[in-house]
Amino acid sequence: MEQKFFYILTFGCQMNERDSETLAGMLEERGYARTEDRAQADVLLINTCSVRENADKKFFGTLGLIKKLKENKPALVVGVCGCMMQQQHIIDTIKSKYSWVDIVFGTHNLHRLPQLLDNLIAEKKKQREVWPEHHGIEEGLPAHRQHSFKAYVNIMYGCNNFCTYCIVPYTRGRERSRMPEEILKEVQGLVASGVKEITLLGQNVNSYRPESAEVPDFPALLRLLNGVEGLQRIRFMTSHPKDLSEGLIQAYKDCEKLCPHIHLPVQSGSSAVLKRMNRRYTKEQYIDLVGRLREAVPNIAISTDIIVGFPGETEEDFLETLDLVNKVQYDSAFTFLYSVRKGTPAAEYEDQIPEEVKHERFDRLVEAVNTISAEKNRRKVGQTEWVLCEGESKTDAGLFTGRTPDHKLINFLPAAGPDGQPISLKEGDLVQVEVTSSNTFSLVGKAVTL
Ligand code: 5AD
Ligand code: SF4
Repeated sequence: MEQKFFYILTFGCQMNERDSETLAGMLEERGYARTEDRAQADVLLINTCSVRENADKKFFGTLGLIKKLKENKPALVVGVCGCMMQQQHIIDTIKSKYSWVDIVFGTHNLHRLPQLLDNLIAEKKKQREVWPEHHGIEEGLPAHRQHSFKAYVNIMYGCNNFCTYCIVPYTRGRERSRMPEEILKEVQGLVASGVKEITLLGQNVNSYRPESAEVPDFPALLRLLNGVEGLQRIRFMTSHPKDLSEGLIQAYKDCEKLCPHIHLPVQSGSSAVLKRMNRRYTKEQYIDLVGRLREAVPNIAISTDIIVGFPGETEEDFLETLDLVNKVQYDSAFTFLYSVRKGTPAAEYEDQIPEEVKHERFDRLVEAVNTISAEKNRRKVGQTEWVLCEGESKTDAGLFTGRTPDHKLINFLPAAGPDGQPISLKEGDLVQVEVTSSNTFSLVGKAVTL
C-alpha cells in the first residue's frame, strides 16, 4: 500500500505539545508517517490554543492558508482539535466559515481521532465531535515523543482555580490526577528508552491528588520518581503559589534529581489586582514564599509569568509589579499583555485598559525583567555546571547546546580529546561545562575535560 503522511501543527503550551505526541502516536499506529512538508500530507491536524487572542488569530490565519492546500488536493483530510474547539463560538465560526474542515474534536476526546478518521471515510461526512466534559483519564495511548533524551509526562489534567482572566478551566475541564503507578510505569519506560530528564506536567501540579494511600500528593510523587534508577533529572510545571506546600520545599532538599528551578507564575505584584484575578495570595505572601524557597534551596532559579494591563490596573498597581520583580529578582519571566477571553469573568469587567497603556507598561516591564536576567546570567560566569546536551547549536557552528540544572540555556564548545580534536557529543550526554560568558537569555561555555 502506498505510504500515507500526516502533518501536525501545534500551538500553545507544553500540554498541547504532549497531546500532539499522542496524536502522532495514534496516526503512526495506523500506518501513517510524519512529514514536515504540508503539501505532502494526507492528514493535516492543527492542535489549537486559546489562552490569548493572538493564538486564535494565528489559527484562523493558518486555516486560510490550508484551504488553498485542500483546493489543490481535495483528498487531504484536515482536522482541528485542542482548546479552541472546546468553545462553542469557535465551533460556530468553523461551521459557518470553514465548513470544509473534515474533523473537529476537542481536548476531552483526543483519543477518538482514529475512530473519527474511520467514520469520515465510511460515512463520507464531516466529523464534529466535542465532549463538553471529560470522561476520566485515557491511559495506554501510544505516543511518538519529540525527543529521545527528555520527555513531558502528564500527572494531572484540568484546573479548578478559575483565575478571572483565564480560559483554561473552560477548555480543559476540572482537575483529575493520574494514578502514581501509571506515571511510574511511563517514566520507567521512558528511562529504558534513553530518557534522562522528565518534566511533569499539570496546570497546577500542587493540586495533584490521586486516590492513593501511598502517594497522596505531589511531594510524595516526586519522592517516588526520584527513586527511578537511570533517571537523571526531574522538572515540573506549573505550580500555583497559593498551593505550594512545605512538603514541596522539603522535596527539593530530599530529592537529588529534582532540578533547582521553579516556575512560579505571579501574574501581578499588586495585591488588589491579584484579588480581582482570583489568585488567592497577596504580594507579601508571594514574596514570603520566595524567601522560604530560597532559604531551603539557596541556588534555586525562579521564573514566572506576568500579565500587564489587567482590567482596572492603575499606574500604582503596575509600579507594585515592577517593585515585586525587583524584590524577587527572577531568573526569567514570560510577560503578557492582558488579552480578553470570551466567557471569562474579566472579559466583562468595564475598566479595560487602552492598548497603548498596556504596551507602554509592557515595555517597561520587559526592560526590568531583562536587566535582572542579564545580571543573573553574568553571575554564573566562572562556575562549572552539569549540562544535559541537546545536540548541536542551531545558531553557532561547532558549538553544542543544552540546559544547566537551573534551566539556563547554554551554548558550549566541546572539550578536546588527547588528539586535540573536539570530543563529539550527542543528545542526552551529561557534560560538565564551565561558563565563560553570558547574554541576557543564555550562557556561553566550554566543556571541561575530566
Ligand atoms: N491574557 C494574558 N495572559 C494570559 N495568560 C493566561 N490567560 C491570559 C490572558 N487572558 C497567561 C498567564 C498564564 C500563562 C500561561 O498565560 O500568565 O500563567
Ligand atoms: Fe488558568 Fe489560573 Fe488555572 Fe493557571 S491556575 S490554568 S492561570 S485558571
